[in-house]
Amino acid sequence: MKGKAVLAFSGGLDTSVVVKYLQEKYNLDVVTVTVDVGQGDDQKKIAAKAKKLGVVKHYNLDARSEFVNDFIFPSIKANALYQKKYCLATALTRPLIAQKVVDIAKKESAKALAHGCTGKGNDQVRFDVTMRSGTTLPIIAPIRDLNLTRDVELKFAKKHGIQIDNTAKRFSIDQNLWGRAIEGGVMEDAYKEPPEDAFIWVKTKNLPDKPQYLEIEFKGGLPVAVDGKHLKPIELIQYINKKAGSCGVGIVDHIEDRVVGIKSREVYETPAATCLIEAHTDLEKMVLTKHELKFKSIVDSEWAWLAYSGLWQDPLKSDLDMFINATQMRVSGTVKLKMFKGSLRVVGRKSDYSLYSHDLATYGSGSTFDQTLAKGFVELWGFQSTEANKLLKKR
Ligand code: ARG
Repeated sequence: MKGKAVLAFSGGLDTSVVVKYLQEKYNLDVVTVTVDVGQGDDQKKIAAKAKKLGVVKHYNLDARSEFVNDFIFPSIKANALYQKKYCLATALTRPLIAQKVVDIAKKESAKALAHGCTGKGNDQVRFDVTMRSGTTLPIIAPIRDLNLTRDVELKFAKKHGIQIDNTAKRFSIDQNLWGRAIEGGVMEDAYKEPPEDAFIWVKTKNLPDKPQYLEIEFKGGLPVAVDGKHLKPIELIQYINKKAGSCGVGIVDHIEDRVVGIKSREVYETPAATCLIEAHTDLEKMVLTKHELKFKSIVDSEWAWLAYSGLWQDPLKSDLDMFINATQMRVSGTVKLKMFKGSLRVVGRKSDYSLYSHDLATYGSGSTFDQTLAKGFVELWGFQSTEANKLLKKR
């Protein structure tokens, strides 16, 4: 009997090619695992595709709730934006998918784990590190290990009758509930504007002539309602993706530093992530002290780096989670966002835990702030700076 390899399978070009390689070059039976993280694919079609490729078994696992609760939600609490822009949509799914593959490999007594990552990207790091944290089985990654290029893959796919849809021919897409990443093709020229047909979630033409508002209510750092509607987490994210996307909000285009050292031009559609992180960050500014905010921004950026760079399993990540969770108790309240022709702006916020005091801040009469106290404070505050300058001038 041949051994089995369990492959993380999306049904796209890379993973379809990998099935054939595992069968032909590695002489293994293939078990495919497709993890539903809200990519919106037709799971029946993927199962049929796997069958057609001759796999011995196909699993389709619905991990959407787990993805939201254990990955997206912690990332909202961490205001997670890698290099201040990327909401980690792809990055957050990889440890989850890898864990599912490991679980199935144990169940199937498999001899190897497999994935379709290239040696140039971040996903190989995320998959391998999680897999390594769960088993000692060998990891086969034919595209990386055999140094295959996309052109070679396309040819190989044609030869083996693997069908590739037209979008996949033009771009490399990875999508889930939290965002849609579009890479490759014309966008590899970092100066070229992405073509309009690259975008599916965010409208780029005929945008509404009136501004639209989103009111997001948070409890303990997490969104619980939007526009007065209490929605389940998945629906809440879908609702915002749709509404913000229809206002042209949520396109990100930036240069990103990959783990392996390559700079790449990355384009994303992330309407819900953009709105939720903008709103959450704003609410924190109202309820946390300036000391908490200053320190948390360091923790947040380290958190995003760990998630991005495949170190989801590192103990530091859970240490940071403990700190972040401790800060979220007071992050409850409502934030109002205004969206108009692609722009997004916070236009209001309120919270029972607000440290903003109108009576202190107002320039009008009735302020409870005693200005006369400020004079002495400023004197002491700037003491070292002014002394240092006096000394410098003397020399
Ligand atoms: N640059 C992003 C990341 O590393 C997105 C990559 C998504 N594309 C892909 N084909 N997996 O997370």
